[in-house]
Amino acid sequence: MWFYPRVLAHRGGGTLAPENTMAALRCGLAHGFRAVEFDVMLSKDSVPVLMHDPDFGRTVSGKGKVGETSAQALSRLDAGSWFGTSFTGEPVPDYRQAADFCKANRIWMNVEIKPSPGAEAETGRVVAEWTRRFFAPGDPLMPLLSSFSFEALAAAMAEAPEVPRAFLVDVMPPDWRERLEVLEAVALHTNHKYLLPERARAVKQAGYGLFCYTVNAPERARELLGWGVDAFCTDRIDLIGPDFAGA
Ligand code: G3P
Ligand code: MG
Repeated sequence: MWFYPRVLAHRGGGTLAPENTMAALRCGLAHGFRAVEFDVMLSKDSVPVLMHDPDFGRTVSGKGKVGETSAQALSRLDAGSWFGTSFTGEPVPDYRQAADFCKANRIWMNVEIKPSPGAEAETGRVVAEWTRRFFAPGDPLMPLLSSFSFEALAAAMAEAPEVPRAFLVDVMPPDWRERLEVLEAVALHTNHKYLLPERARAVKQAGYGLFCYTVNAPERARELLGWGVDAFCTDRIDLIGPDFAGA
């Protein structure tokens, strides 16, 4: 079962804005997206910030590690220049800023817990704790937490079992069903490149939601939906609109 939107803007604004920034969220919204995926990692002082890579170098310049840098120092980094000069000075937002924006604009969030190496359980715990603070049970905007880290999701469940979880995998492991059961997860999130129709069918028959990342070609998106995939995220928010999969 899948009770959520069907097309999500990946990392906020896909390839049209610097990933995991407020500019990205604004860009997604400007393209009509009211559903978004972004990545969240802990700073040194345990503040969840929007970030994909544990090391500086790609989206923020210089040398350093997110998990060894305070949230205040991270907020002063430039997460926009790498993408284009018009985004120079775009800061690294924290989870609260992103959640406030999404709540104010009625945007549903798939929050991907992206732990720095060694910080799996703590990241899952803190992200769940913050989510519980932002959203009361039953809130239609209650986010879905996902992660490649089983440990992070287990810690999220221990901290806030009422915040829903999805197990995120590149290739579906043979024990996918057991892992979903242990996590009391609502969905499996998987790389569309390795999905097969029979695997999609098995996930749906087991009663779980099925989400794919990251689908950038409309014809592939149609094929996946035909296999029973419930939802997907896309980088090409210019090609694949929020209503692509129907209401
Ligand atoms: O959450 C789906 C997708 O974002 C996972 O891969 O590397 O883009 O975070 P990545
Ligand atoms: Mg992600």
